[in-house]
Amino acid sequence: SSSLNSIAVAAGKKFFGTATNQDQFNDASYVDVMLAQFGSLTPANVQKWQYTEPSQGSYDYSQGDSFASYAAENGKILCCDNLVWYQQYPSWIDSQSWTAESLSEVMTNHITSEVSHYKGKCYSWNVVNEAFNDDGTWRENVFYNTIGEDYIAQSFAAAAAADPNAILYYNDYNIESPGAKATAVENLISSLKSQGIKIDAVGLESHFIVGETPSLSQQQQQMQAYANLGVDVFVTELDVRFSSLPPTEQGLQQQSEDYQASVGACAALGSKCPAISVWDFDDTYSWIPSTFSGQGDADLYWANLTAKPALAGIESVLVA
Ligand code: G3I
Repeated sequence: SSSLNSIAVAAGKKFFGTATNQDQFNDASYVDVMLAQFGSLTPANVQKWQYTEPSQGSYDYSQGDSFASYAAENGKILCCDNLVWYQQYPSWIDSQSWTAESLSEVMTNHITSEVSHYKGKCYSWNVVNEAFNDDGTWRENVFYNTIGEDYIAQSFAAAAAADPNAILYYNDYNIESPGAKATAVENLISSLKSQGIKIDAVGLESHFIVGETPSLSQQQQQMQAYANLGVDVFVTELDVRFSSLPPTEQGLQQQSEDYQASVGACAALGSKCPAISVWDFDDTYSWIPSTFSGQGDADLYWANLTAKPALAGIESVLVA
C-alpha cells in the first residue's frame, strides 16, 4: 500500500515527516517503518544549541552532521531544529552574566555559525521555539530577560542572512486554536513583518490530548488567521496522547478523530499548509511518558510497530 508520505504528496503536500533520534537507528524494525512511511526527518535533539556549542565559541556539529547525512542518504528532507529555545541551550550561558549586547553577540554568532554550517541542507529552520506563556505574555528566559523581545527579530535576521533559502519559522504549542497565546503569535508575526524581518512560517507543535483536541474548524480558523498575515503554516510536532492509560477502543477512535482534525485543517488550508510532521511515530520512543507521568500512547504506531486506527484515519483525510 502507499506510504503516508506518498499519500500526503499526492494530496499536494511537500511531505509527511517525523522527528527522530539517531540512537534509534540501530532498531531495524523502527527504521523500516520510518523510511517506508515518512518523507522528512527532524532531529529531536542533536542540532540544539547545547550539542552544537558545548563551550563558548567551540562548535561541534558531529552528531548533527551524521543525522543530516543519514537523511540525505535515505532521500529524506531535513527539517532543522532548533536555534533559540529556553531549554537545551549550553550551561555556560547560565554560568556567566551578560549585557544585552554581549548576549546578542553570543546568540547571533551561534545562529550564524550553525545556519551557515547547514546552508543548503535544511528545508526549514525552527528559529525561535516557545517564546510565550499560555496567557500570551512573554516567557521569561535568559534571552528575553537580557535582550528583551528584540531577541526574536535578531534571531530571524541572523538566520536569514546565513541561509536565505531555508524556510524560517517561529514554533510553539497551544497556538493551534484562537486564544491569548495564538494572538500573541499573530502580533509577533505582524511586528516582525512590519520591521522588514524575514519570517516565512509558523510551526504549530500540535501536542494534543485525546478528547481535548481543538476541533477541525477551530484549527482551520486559526491556521487561516496566520495565513492571512502572509506566513505559511506547518504542523511540526503532532501527537495525541491519552491522559490516562490504557486506552479503550472508543478512546482509540477519538484519538483518530483528533489526529484527523489537525491533518484535515492542514489539508483545508491547501498550499498555505505545506507539510505535517509527527514528533516520533511509535510509542517506544515517545517523549511523553517521561514528561507527563502516567500519560502516553500518543503516536500513530503502538510500541510493537502495528498501526493504530489514527494512521488509516489521517490517510483517509488526505485522500478525500
Ligand atoms: O543524551 C542524554 C543521555 O546521555 C543521558 O544519559 C540521558 C539521561 O536523562 O539524557 C539524555 O538526554 C536527553 C535528551 O532528550 C536526549 O535523549 C534529555 O535528558 C531529555 O531531556 C531530552 O528530551 C528532549 C526534550 O525535547 C527536552 O526538553 C526530547 O528528546 C525531545 O523530543 C524534546 O523535544 C521537544 C521539542 O524540542 C519542542 N517541543 C516539545 C518537544 C517534546 O518535549
